[in-house]
Amino acid sequence: MSPLGPSDSSPISRRRFLRGLGVGSVAVGALGAGVMPLIEAAPAGALTGTSLLRQPAIMGAAVPEQLHVQYGADAATEAAVSWATAERVSRPKLRLGANDAGFGFPIDAEERVYTEALTGQTVYTYHVALNHLLADTQYLYQVFNAGAEPVSGGFRTGPRSRSKPFRFTSYGDQSIPSPVGLGLGPWSPNAGYIVPALEATEPLFHLMNGDLCYANISDDPVATWASFFNTTMPSAANRPWMPCSGNHENEVGNGPEGYLSYQTRFTLPDNGEPAAWQGNWYSFVVGNICVVSLNNDDVCLQDGAFSAYRAAHVPNYTTNGDNPYIVGYSGGAQKIWLEHTLSHARLRPDIDWIVVVMHQVAMSSAHFNGADLGIRQQWLPLFDKYGVDLVVAGHEHHFERTFAVRGTLPQQPDLLTPAPHGTDSQLIDTTKGTVHMIIGGGGNPGFTPLHDFDMPHDGVLIVGVNPGNPDVQHTTITTTEQAPWSAYRDITTPYGFATFDVVPLAPRGTTTIAVTHYGAAAGSPTYSPVDRFTLVRPRRG
Ligand SMILES: [Fe+2]
Ligand SMILES: [Fe+2]
Repeated sequence: MSPLGPSDSSPISRRRFLRGLGVGSVAVGALGAGVMPLIEAAPAGALTGTSLLRQPAIMGAAVPEQLHVQYGADAATEAAVSWATAERVSRPKLRLGANDAGFGFPIDAEERVYTEALTGQTVYTYHVALNHLLADTQYLYQVFNAGAEPVSGGFRTGPRSRSKPFRFTSYGDQSIPSPVGLGLGPWSPNAGYIVPALEATEPLFHLMNGDLCYANISDDPVATWASFFNTTMPSAANRPWMPCSGNHENEVGNGPEGYLSYQTRFTLPDNGEPAAWQGNWYSFVVGNICVVSLNNDDVCLQDGAFSAYRAAHVPNYTTNGDNPYIVGYSGGAQKIWLEHTLSHARLRPDIDWIVVVMHQVAMSSAHFNGADLGIRQQWLPLFDKYGVDLVVAGHEHHFERTFAVRGTLPQQPDLLTPAPHGTDSQLIDTTKGTVHMIIGGGGNPGFTPLHDFDMPHDGVLIVGVNPGNPDVQHTTITTTEQAPWSAYRDITTPYGFATFDVVPLAPRGTTTIAVTHYGAAAGSPTYSPVDRFTLVRPRRG
């Protein structure tokens, strides 16, 4: 396999992206035969992009930016397109189309707004949820508003159950490619390089494992979010990017648990919970996989969202009662939802795999953050009970993966150390347990340093926190444990992402996922394969 890297080592600029992403260029090589439009096409000539330009111009109108796509609960029939503008715009709309079929009638976008507690800035986002789509179909879209030229993108709906193979990708902990504001938030060149490298693998969709841009520790969180979405847009406008919320999505002061910016900027599958928790956890089905996205700050012992800058600068922080330490905030509601979701997924004959995307980890062999006992206490018994196959996570800024784990080792019962089953690190049967992957090298400049890896190769576990309060972070109490669960860790390349090639109909009644981790050196735009393995399980139907 040849290394992946952009032919131009610089990140794709937004201007170049907009220029290159006309409808025609999206269609090239991306659309199969038999594609049908969602909406019946109007007469030829009436629905072209040029007609949009004939609208009365509103001089200086903000243009759509930060464009990204999400799947709905059923990836075969539901998707959503989201974007932002620098200021409130008039008549925000989307036209959906497909190859050789023109675009349908404009669909009004929903405006969702929040005000950043730190700076008082109001952020305008726009969303169009699409349903009744056709499975395994390439769609195009344009978004626009009065006085602004349309911006285009596309996405492909998921295949039904086992109808065809597909690829997805995953990483977490990206940050942004250049500083904003006072430069207090993390940034690195690799936070930009990873996007074209990932895009070159052409996944059907991407899982973003939390700590998207670290807006909660930036002095300019709105600009940080804008940088993140404009950096990822060359991929995220053309395939769904499905996130989970990490500790750095908790921007204290923005909503009850700090997730208001995250929730406002994404349109994610409905979880049936009150509005305050929408987007914090959700699931969707694509092909023969059920993906479950969790919010681990609900169960983690670590005080990971603390921000000294926000504590010092969010107006009325103390009198508001702002508190970034939110362990237990759902009162068990997320756990009840998780058990309900996992049990239903396991009953469906069209679903073989259950994949969890979450941020903090259940196992790690680095003295970085360490794994969190709260995850072992709350989530792992459910993962065991319902046979979760794969967990992708971040938080630790390196790559590591485990053997299939189920149950706990007896040596130190209070630590709930997961018990490995099997010793083959290349072909892993997930009916024996859950494989956990740390894919935390998305771009944060503070990658796990070599000296943080536990060289006796022990596990590192957060077992509690010291006293703290909203102004003083609770520091962690950690311990070590034997780590026979660790199958592989990459101590050579700090940055990377993983591809997952799903084969629904593999030989002898099985289904497989072939995994490749691509790594890159700091400052390098070239991502090369460094680790491969395959997951296998029997088909359920
Ligand atoms: Fe992180
Ligand atoms: Fe994190």
